[in-house]
Amino acid sequence: MTGRDLDQFVIDRVGDGEFNVHRDLFRDRTLFDLEMKHIFEGSWVFLGLASQAPNPHDYFTTWIGRQPVVIMRDATGVLGAFLNSCRHRGATVCPHEQGHAKYHVCPYHGWAYDSAGKNLDVRDRQHGQYSAAFDRDSHDLAAIAKFGNYRGFLFGCLNADAPPLPQHLGDTRFFLDLVVDQSPHGVELVPGSSTYTFNGNWKLQIENCVDVYHVLSAHSSFVKIVERRRSGESANQLEALDFAAYRSAAITRGSFTFDYGHAVIWAQNATPQIRPLFPMIDEIKQRVGAIKAEWMLYSRNLTLYPNVQIAENASLQMRVIRPLAVDKTEMRIYCLAPIGESDHTRTFRIRQYEDFFNVSGLATPDDTTCYEDCQTGYRAHSINWQQGYARGITAVQRGADDYAKTIGITPVTSQHGPHDIQDETIFHASYREWLRLMKAGAK
Ligand code: FES
Ligand SMILES: [Fe+2]
Repeated sequence: MTGRDLDQFVIDRVGDGEFNVHRDLFRDRTLFDLEMKHIFEGSWVFLGLASQAPNPHDYFTTWIGRQPVVIMRDATGVLGAFLNSCRHRGATVCPHEQGHAKYHVCPYHGWAYDSAGKNLDVRDRQHGQYSAAFDRDSHDLAAIAKFGNYRGFLFGCLNADAPPLPQHLGDTRFFLDLVVDQSPHGVELVPGSSTYTFNGNWKLQIENCVDVYHVLSAHSSFVKIVERRRSGESANQLEALDFAAYRSAAITRGSFTFDYGHAVIWAQNATPQIRPLFPMIDEIKQRVGAIKAEWMLYSRNLTLYPNVQIAENASLQMRVIRPLAVDKTEMRIYCLAPIGESDHTRTFRIRQYEDFFNVSGLATPDDTTCYEDCQTGYRAHSINWQQGYARGITAVQRGADDYAKTIGITPVTSQHGPHDIQDETIFHASYREWLRLMKAGAK
């Protein structure tokens, strides 16, 4: 597929009031294979948190696109990222999701590696009648081309020509800082994670995280449950989201998009006192200043394209996206929390998380069901174009709005206003990046 072929899948003429995406992006297997090669294996992807391997010889495994990866901390405490594939005949060297091992002995023929990926033993090498050519090759685990760490968020890239990580992340780092700085000691994963799949394309998840428009329709049952709790009709008095204030005209919400496909939506918070973070806010204000502290209490849903999302509106959630097929996606979801918060606050945080975000929560199944409905609807092959990228198109502005200026960032686009705009221009960044990476790969 040439660059010109790819141009036919995205219409990007915002100046003329038009932006659209072809439905084949969600249903075409050839495009999916190219996405794995040129997007997931051609750009930076999120791997995990440094705190998932806190001590020397700890490791955890993950994926870059279709390729198995292991992140290990060596004897001196340095993190490395390698393809999780024995150099001999390919078996995964670390078969577990996470663990602790000074040495990794391949289960198949017994080649051994240390936690820095170095080959220590080709079993029975001395009797192997090997040639000089064999000895010329490195037998170490293959390090991935680029590996970066932004304040404990680990990213990897199989493409040596990708830009440096700070450039890739750009001003989204402000929003990562809002997560890391919630405690002087940083954030950690609350033990336990959920993994689930949905029968839909991965870009449905990319869109949904920053989709304001779906909340009051797709999550209407949750809205009603919250109302019942407030009126005392329900025995469960847990406060998670305040929908009474959600749509209020007094609340400003907005969005920013960035280079490389990243995007964030934000909203002022009428009821900051129902955030687990609230009891710590005075300490936070002193440490990071009033503006950052205020933004920590805003609702924020951040997507770092193409595979990680951090949502903070009830509790704090991290989602990692792994596409399995054009119509199947695996999600790994985690509750994040500031290190050192009180037991009482941690309990409240977990209850909120279970209530809304968890795979068994009141929100997630609404979303995944809608994704699967979309995927079924895409089988209507005589319809080629979506109509879902147009709301807000005459309101979005290039560069920084006043809110961006206040926090000192320079996004590609900004948009803000009352809830009811329910802007859809926020999605444009991801499709621009889709086209850029796919065309770069096609070259
Ligand atoms: S595949 Fe690992 S030792 Fe043979
Ligand atoms: Fe949702």
